Amino acid sequence: MANHVPASFLTRANALFRKNLTYQKRNIWSNVRLIVIPFYLCVLLVGIQVLFDTQVNNSADNRCGCRCIEKNGDGKCETKSCGLEYSSLTQASFCAFPNPPPLLPLLQIPRPETRSVVDPVRGSCRRTGSCPVTILVTGNNHSLGASMSLTNLLHGTTSEADYTNYLDPGLHSDLPIFQIRPRCMPSTNLSFLFRQTPLTFHKEVRCLQGLSLWRNSSVEVNDEIFKGYLQGNPKKITNEVAAAYDFLNTDKKNFNVSIWYNSSYKGEFKIQDRRVNYVRVPRSVNLVSNAYLRFLRGPGTKMLFDFVKEMPKQESILRVDIASVIGPVFLTWVIVLLFPVILNSLVYEKQERLRIIMKMHGLGDGPYWIVTYAYFLVISTLYIICLIIFGSAIGLKIFRFNDYSIQFVFYFLCINLQISLAFLVSSVFAKVKTASVVAYLYVFGSGLLGGSLFQFLLEGLSFPRRWIFVMELYPGFSLYRGLYEFSVYALKRNLNGSDGMKWKHFSHSAMDEVFYIIIVEWFLTLIAAYYMDRVSSSAKDPFLFLKKAFKKSTSPQRHSLQRKGPAVSIEMEKLDVAQESEKVKQLMLESSTSHAIVCDDLKKVYPGRDGNPPKMAVRGLSLAVPSGECFGMLGPNGAGKTSFINMMTGLVKPTSGTAFVQSLDICQDMDRVYTSMGVCPQHDLLWETLTGREHLLFYGRLKNLKGSDLHHAVEESLKSVNLFRGGVADKPAGKYSGGMKRRLSVAISLIGSPKMVYMDEPSTGLDPASRRSLWTAIKSAKKHTAIILTTHSMEEAEFLCDRLGIFVDGRLQCIGNPKELKGRYGGSYVFTMTTSSEHEKDVELLVQDVSQNAKKIYHIAGTQKFEIPKAEVRISQVFQAVEKAKGKFKVFAWGLADTTLEDVFIKVARTCQTSNILS
Ligand SMILES: *[C@@H]1O[C@H](CO)[C@@H](O)[C@H](O)[C@H]1NC(C)=O
Ligand SMILES: *[C@@H]1O[C@H](CO)[C@@H](O)[C@H](O)[C@H]1NC(C)=O
Ligand SMILES: *[C@@H]1O[C@H](CO)[C@@H](O)[C@H](O)[C@H]1NC(C)=O
Ligand SMILES: *[C@@H]1O[C@H](CO)[C@@H](O)[C@H](O)[C@H]1NC(C)=O
Repeated sequence: MANHVPASFLTRANALFRKNLTYQKRNIWSNVRLIVIPFYLCVLLVGIQVLFDTQVNNSADNRCGCRCIEKNGDGKCETKSCGLEYSSLTQASFCAFPNPPPLLPLLQIPRPETRSVVDPVRGSCRRTGSCPVTILVTGNNHSLGASMSLTNLLHGTTSEADYTNYLDPGLHSDLPIFQIRPRCMPSTNLSFLFRQTPLTFHKEVRCLQGLSLWRNSSVEVNDEIFKGYLQGNPKKITNEVAAAYDFLNTDKKNFNVSIWYNSSYKGEFKIQDRRVNYVRVPRSVNLVSNAYLRFLRGPGTKMLFDFVKEMPKQESILRVDIASVIGPVFLTWVIVLLFPVILNSLVYEKQERLRIIMKMHGLGDGPYWIVTYAYFLVISTLYIICLIIFGSAIGLKIFRFNDYSIQFVFYFLCINLQISLAFLVSSVFAKVKTASVVAYLYVFGSGLLGGSLFQFLLEGLSFPRRWIFVMELYPGFSLYRGLYEFSVYALKRNLNGSDGMKWKHFSHSAMDEVFYIIIVEWFLTLIAAYYMDRVSSSAKDPFLFLKKAFKKSTSPQRHSLQRKGPAVSIEMEKLDVAQESEKVKQLMLESSTSHAIVCDDLKKVYPGRDGNPPKMAVRGLSLAVPSGECFGMLGPNGAGKTSFINMMTGLVKPTSGTAFVQSLDICQDMDRVYTSMGVCPQHDLLWETLTGREHLLFYGRLKNLKGSDLHHAVEESLKSVNLFRGGVADKPAGKYSGGMKRRLSVAISLIGSPKMVYMDEPSTGLDPASRRSLWTAIKSAKKHTAIILTTHSMEEAEFLCDRLGIFVDGRLQCIGNPKELKGRYGGSYVFTMTTSSEHEKDVELLVQDVSQNAKKIYHIAGTQKFEIPKAEVRISQVFQAVEKAKGKFKVFAWGLADTTLEDVFIKVARTCQTSNILS
């Protein structure tokens, strides 16, 4: 039946795969729920869009205005007429302009309070708002520049331009239009009816003095413009000019001019990443051209620039695809949401020690990582596919308007990075709770910081691009960046029908950068995760550490409480222990050995913590256990048994010394040792949803059992631990009673005939009947294996163990088979007799008769207990004496008992604890 070839990589991967498959099948609904989360979230997004459509997109302010022309009887509108004439100014920009109105080209002029003041005495003009507007002129030829008449009858406005010229705020706002002349008469102010089909409104036209001033050089012009430039200080007087011209080398044959204008006077409208500015430049260009023409041809010449006109335009409706706008934050959440799920599942297996128990049964790190990774990848991929499908189906533009292949590759890379990140991070956490908190912080932090901070910096053009790159190294932000690019392309397409994101945009958008970052990080995280896993699996378990520290502080107390009994010469009694270590030395010299386990002077010292001295958990243990033997380890709590088992099972590394299991060094070949090892830990490590049979199938496969062998072994094993009848084997382990779980744990440790088995208190919590059957199972399994068993039940030790070692304070105090030990440490009978109280003296005399050295150890109301040295008494003698006594007085009850193992245990434990304190 036993197949002693260790399972191959594939076999183990297959075992884990099949186990996980069954496990996930049981959890199918939670998996399904997880996968359809995107659906709910997409529906939510659609809901927001609908709300936005009805409240914002379709609100009256966001469409061309209409008026009801004909009402029917019920007061409902029969015919509506829509158009510019019925619109408010906010509505008007949405109206159709089949025939755009001609617009007066205006010169941008500074507001009165910021205009440059030529004459400081007349500085009061700022208060009255009557400061003249200045145009500066320079050039190589003074007389030419001075002869240019630049301020002759042109129109200007102090209003900023808008993003569109259909409705220039310079004309439509309440601000007056200024007519600029060299000199103003009070009568020149006028108001007229401004007609811009189909709109008609009153517009005030005011006269404003314009000064054309010569400066000797362009340097002077620059100085003047920037003199007292505001720079964020409102108190500083600014010195703004309407425009400035440098005529350079202009002469009669050559017109060469450069123009200063203030480009900050602009309407700013942002179409996603692009800023659209309309600056009032045309008029200032025309102004100088006109002046030059007049200079060439005389005052009568005129170059007309009567109006500007936009292209015709259809009626438009503001349709913001809110899903694309809030999409990046939202989708960041949706995708990163998988992170806590993966992390929790990884940390859970660690916290519940399921991972380590699988490892002890031979599941190597390789198959574990690959199968686990593959599982999460499949789940994540399904999740993403669902997201894309749902999202597209309900019409989210961020999915629909971009190329699916580029989206899929992007999401695929993201989830890979996410999984490897979870692997890396999981090595830091030992508790699911802390891991959850941190993971959800990551989820919300990524979305919120991405949406507020990162996007803000991304759109702010002044933030250095290389810092954006640095920020993208944070996985949450690189994901956000990718989604942001998708949304930008989707919005653009929504707005003006351009392509969505295609592969050809790959390097134009920042997508290439994001892809490279994610790919590089993915590999680096995988390597780091692998490394961290190595480190953490070779280091000790964090819990164990705490436990040790805890025990350390409590154990001295116990010592002092138990300071009783005589100090005996320990060295003499340790002869057996010395013999065992001789034997080990001998075995170490031999090349091959029949002994399954050989421990050579194993030591474990835990370093001191918080001011406590280092704790010697195991102080040099030599032991040889041949195949077919069950070695029992007895000892008080905190004696170092668990440390020993932990070393043997590879949980902790020995401080010095080593052990050979099947001639394999546990310090070097632990992975190979695991392939022929079985462990029954103190606490049952089982999957709640898997049945007993599935557990055994999994571990059987790990032990390289296949086909009919496997099924046979599983049946046998179920029968032997009494889990076969009543369909128990096919119930999930979560429904088992404590005893059934225990039996299953033992069955797991024995399946596949491992070469050595460690059992940590296998029968705790079992009823006597189950215990019996369990013992029988262990006893029959013993034939091919070496078993090391710790127990607190002396009965169990006596029944199962061929040899026993009593382990106190990190040392073996004695070793031998139960009989020997009892002989060596017992050496007395306990005699009990109950009579009426008046006969107590008689009983004492009787005992004195039998043995001179008998000691009374217990006395209460007629019942007395005596300890009688074995050497001085024969049992028949006692019987005779009792028979005699029965004739003299009434004996209610009596008994004679041999020393039990328990007596031995207590004696050994006490003696050496006392001696330790004395030494
Ligand atoms: C400057 O311009 C005037 C015409 O306005 C011309 O007569 C004169 O020659 C020019 N001077 C130079 C140095 O070119
Ligand atoms: C400009 O040049 C003229 C003659 O070349 C000179 O008289 C005048 O002082 C200069 N102005 C300034 C501000 O330097
Ligand atoms: C340009 O225009 C802006 C906005 O009106 C104004 O704050 C600034 O002072 C102007 N700069 C100059 C040099 O006139
Ligand atoms: C116009 O002026 C600039 C600056 O002085 C000069 O570099 C350029 O050659 C001039 N162009 C012509 C056509 O004279």
